[in-house]
This record gives sequence, C-alpha cells and structure tokens, in this order.
Amino acid sequence: MKETVLKKFEEIFGDIKDVNVYFAPGRVNMIGEHTDYNGGHVFPCALTIGTYVAARKREDDKLRFYSMNFDRLGVIESSIVDLKPEKEAEWTNYPKGVMWAFEKRGFKMPCGLDIVLNGNIPNGSGLSSSASLEVVTGYMLRDLFGFDVTNVDLALIGQYSENNFNGMNCGIMDQFASAMGKKDNAIFLDTADLSYEYAPLVLKGAKIVVTNSKVKHSLVDSEYNVRRSECEKALEELQTVVDIKGLGDLSEEQFEQYKSAIGDDVRVRRAKHAVYENRRTIRAVEALKNNDLKLFGELMNASHVSLRDDYQVSCDEIDVLVEEAWKVPGVIGSRITGGGFGGCTVSIVKDEAVAEFQEKVGAAYRERVGKDADFYVVEIGDGPAKL
Ligand code: GLA
Repeated sequence: MKETVLKKFEEIFGDIKDVNVYFAPGRVNMIGEHTDYNGGHVFPCALTIGTYVAARKREDDKLRFYSMNFDRLGVIESSIVDLKPEKEAEWTNYPKGVMWAFEKRGFKMPCGLDIVLNGNIPNGSGLSSSASLEVVTGYMLRDLFGFDVTNVDLALIGQYSENNFNGMNCGIMDQFASAMGKKDNAIFLDTADLSYEYAPLVLKGAKIVVTNSKVKHSLVDSEYNVRRSECEKALEELQTVVDIKGLGDLSEEQFEQYKSAIGDDVRVRRAKHAVYENRRTIRAVEALKNNDLKLFGELMNASHVSLRDDYQVSCDEIDVLVEEAWKVPGVIGSRITGGGFGGCTVSIVKDEAVAEFQEKVGAAYRERVGKDADFYVVEIGDGPAKL
C-alpha cells in the first residue's frame, strides 16, 4: 500500500522527494453499541485495514488533495486560510475538519500540503473509514509540524471535527479505537471518563468474521442524531428523580425503578438499550477474562436483539445476516456492528465452521436479499503509524 500511494503521488505531484506516508486503521466494535454518547462502555478493536496518506509540505498556503478511492474527482484544491466545510470539497471536508480543529486548539499550520490518499476499508461498510481518515490526518499533522498532542487528543480532535465541521454527532468510540488500537487486543473504554484497558482478543479455536451487507441506508446520519437526542431527553427526565451524569451510570435494576420518569414509550426503549447494553459490555469483558467465550457470544446476540427491537437501528438485510448466522453450528455470537442501518455484522465463529458460515450465510443472503455479502476474517491491528 505504501508503494502504491507513493507511486500515485509521483504521478499526480511530479516527484516523491520529502514525502512521508502515514496509516491509521478502521475498527470493528465487538459489543457496546450506541453507548459511547451515553457515558457507557464500548469494546472495539482496530483492524489491519484503514487509510494511507502520502503528504508533503508546500511553500504556500495551498492544500491539494487527491484520493485513489475517488479518482473521478481529480485533485481538489483549497487553502489553509479560512477552513470551512463546503459541499464541493467532498471527502476533503474530513481532513480539512481536522486541520480546523487543530487550529481551534491553537495549532496553526505554517504551510499548505500536497496529499494523496488511499483507503482499503470498503466504502460505507460502517468500519470507520471516516474516523481512520481523521486520525491519519491528525497523526500526519503532528508529525509534520510537531504539534504537541497525544493519541487520545488525536481521537478527541477527530471527533470534534466530525461533530462540529461535518455535522455528525458521533461519540468517541471510532476515533479512539483508531488512534489507540493495539494488535490482538480490544479496547475496553469507559466513555464517561476515557479510562481504558486493553483486553487480549486472541480467540482460541475461533475467528472474528465481519460480514458486509453492502447496503447503506441514507438515514444513517439523520437517524443517528435523532437517537442521540432521544437519549439526551430521556436522561434529563431521569435526572428529575435520580442523580446521574449519563445513562451509563444506571444498573438495570435502577433503570426499572426510575423509568416511569420518562414520558414516552419510545424514549423508554432507547434508554433501556443504552443502560442494558452498557451492562452487557461490562459482563462480556468479564466473560472474556474468564475464558467464557460462550457467554460472550450470548451477550453479543442479546446486543443485536436490543439494537433491533428497542434501539431500532438495524434493517432487514442485516437482520437476515444475523438470523442466518445464528443458525450455523459453530457460531458463538453474531450481531450488527457500528452505527447501523446497513453496514456490517460481526460474528465469532469456530475455526472449523468458518467455511460453512460463509457458504450458508452467503447463500441465504443471496436468496433472501438478492445480493452477495462479503466476508472478511479479520485481524486486530495496531493504531496509527508513520511508514
Ligand atoms: C458510529 C459512531 C460511534 C458510535 C457507533 C454506535 O460508529 O461514530 O461513535 O456511536 O456509531 O455504537
């Protein structure tokens, strides 16, 4: 990938003198979905696929971007002066958002850049191509200009830019997983205070299989923001009867005790998901530590049911993938992963069942949905790097 992106750089910008290449990974979340903006726990891991960027400083204020994933757009030009989101700027709104967010923190770029990007995360798959682009941009800026920030800052800067420059009110999970990834480990992160712990996820006798539904419903961003405000409203209602900072502060029992304070049934179900999913995540990590993969899988399955019925962020295509996965002997657990409304499922599958899993789930998906799903047996990779 490094050579490919350098070769393209040479083709587009003439030569590769003083060019540096950087990488940041995408992520898959094992459990703890839609808990990260509710002060709950998440359990994602970085993948070995992600976004590669070749970059060189310029002598003026210009920014010139080229993406190998969007060849048809050619070179997109702008400037480090007066960074603002523009529709015509297409994907470059992500790196520009990060530059803008650095500036908000007092880190001003002294010059412009020429940039060529190449990503190998399937588009729209919900494996965090945008977070990896934000993190690789931040990592590159830190390296090129010596900005004094930590990797956790890179995650926060990425999230800030996505919320305030690109208008998606995401939580911290994706950027954190990309910036803090560690090979063969998932990250048990408490989003209430950003304390975290690495948990080895080398599964004896089983693999992590990501299945791409190859559908992405257009509601993703808008419905995501709606869920987020429903949870905020439910929290305010609960705060009239119990002293909590986030839904993640409640146990299941406390939720049942106080839920009548929430004035609407839909909001009760949204909040219920956030509370129960947080507890499931804590229990799942305990199960993993106790080598109880069976329980881990059961909690993944319960997570799916809750996301489907109470949080309502699944869709027919994803439900087909999960239902069919559950039928295959050797599947330890399977659920939707990421923001929802399409994208991918994540499954833990016994080694000897992986081939059968792909065959059976693939055939059923073709028959019931009329599409070919893609399967990736994934490896857990490290965070960002200069290559
Ligand atoms: C998206 C967001 C994350 C998180 C997940 C759902 O990926 O970017 O912050 O909320 O959805 O768990």
